[in-house]
Amino acid sequence: MNILLLGSGGRESALARKISESKRCSHLWIAPGNGGTDAYGTNVALSPLDFDAIKNFVAENAVDMIVVGNEDPLVAGIYDYFENDGVLVVGPSKAAAALEGSKDFAKGFMSRHGIPTAAYATFTAETLEQGKEFLATLKAPYVLKADGLAAGKGVLIIPDLAEAQDALAEMLAGQFGESSRKVVIEEFLSGIECSVFVLTDSNGGYRILPVAKDYKRVGEGDTGPNTGGMGAVSPVKFADAEFMDKVEKRIIIPTIEGLRKEGLTYRGFIFLGLINVDGEPKVIEYNVRMGDPETEVVMPRLASDLVDLLEGCAKGDLGDIPAEHDPRAAVTVIAVSGGYPGSYPKGKEITGCLTPADSLVFHAGTKKDAEGRILTSGGRVLAVTSYGDNLQDALAKSYKSLADIHFDGMAYRRDIGLDVINYKG
Ligand code: AMP
Ligand code: GLY
Repeated sequence: MNILLLGSGGRESALARKISESKRCSHLWIAPGNGGTDAYGTNVALSPLDFDAIKNFVAENAVDMIVVGNEDPLVAGIYDYFENDGVLVVGPSKAAAALEGSKDFAKGFMSRHGIPTAAYATFTAETLEQGKEFLATLKAPYVLKADGLAAGKGVLIIPDLAEAQDALAEMLAGQFGESSRKVVIEEFLSGIECSVFVLTDSNGGYRILPVAKDYKRVGEGDTGPNTGGMGAVSPVKFADAEFMDKVEKRIIIPTIEGLRKEGLTYRGFIFLGLINVDGEPKVIEYNVRMGDPETEVVMPRLASDLVDLLEGCAKGDLGDIPAEHDPRAAVTVIAVSGGYPGSYPKGKEITGCLTPADSLVFHAGTKKDAEGRILTSGGRVLAVTSYGDNLQDALAKSYKSLADIHFDGMAYRRDIGLDVINYKG
């Protein structure tokens, strides 16, 4: 089948590699792709949000299936746009994509279906005073979330009540534009997080993919500002059979049943951002796509054919298509541009070995110039993934491979995975 993958990050590189390995894939295009995705298919200069241009491309190139990497096209309704067009789209309908596109919708959904999550209330500018009073009833720290998409920046965790009340006023006055005209205030949950990915066909069929944990803060020891993600590991020791049984019964099945009861079509990846509170899983957030950088360890640990699974989802029947997990551990360490997540330079040449023997290098913020040189073009530049018998072994390989890669200002965390390795339940 002919497949069009939308996106340009490390996640899309890992998806592209896995799709290209399938015997079922005749041709893969990546739109727009990056400086490394042409190893797996053909990059095409299309914006993932330009649905009319995508439609023309699909018709001209007999594309059979569209796979969407990031949330924006899904929340903007790409599934619905192509629904009666003869091309399969892997993803949720626009209405179901509100699980990521609106925190208030997601919290309401969880409450309607008894899915464990932090207690919450939602406020608007009209109810600012009630919001301040609600904050005063909670214990510190205070969790404030912009309702809409805010490029990962819309969640504030504030230790002081007066500061949290001021932050609420600023958010409701439009600090994050339209996204924060509604604000969800949540009870703070304390525990260790993990990311669970599920593929669903909208007809009750689902498959659980390998569990991962990502590292969001820029600095070692989880310090400094939040980033898109500085690394990820899989498996996650504390997500053992007992924990995953609770996740499946209390969260995955009620989510899939809830979508069905509410008539929300969902044929794609569900990303459950979970927190383990003393052995009890609770949902921190839903995303309607794969995680980045989690995909860079989850796809390498998926031992089954991804194209079979994606087609099963998009056609609404996963049947008995397997999703086997590779028993090896996988880790990924992200090399970022100096200054990230603040401002950073672009166009730095990347030199050294980008095809190390012991690792897979997934390009993220890279581009190829006319002479074929690889240049930095984003904050997160490369994801260096390795397999190992355990996380330590895999990490040693990624760090060894990183030592042979260079660009001006290159930085990475040296402590990816240590909390999982040292976890005592
Ligand atoms: P979100 O965008 O909802 O995933 O939030 C970003 C990050 O904020 C999460 O990955 C958590 O680390 C943290 N967070 C969000 N909600 C809570 C909560 N209720 N309690 C504790 N931490 C939270
Ligand atoms: N790694 C978290 C995310 O993709 O949202």
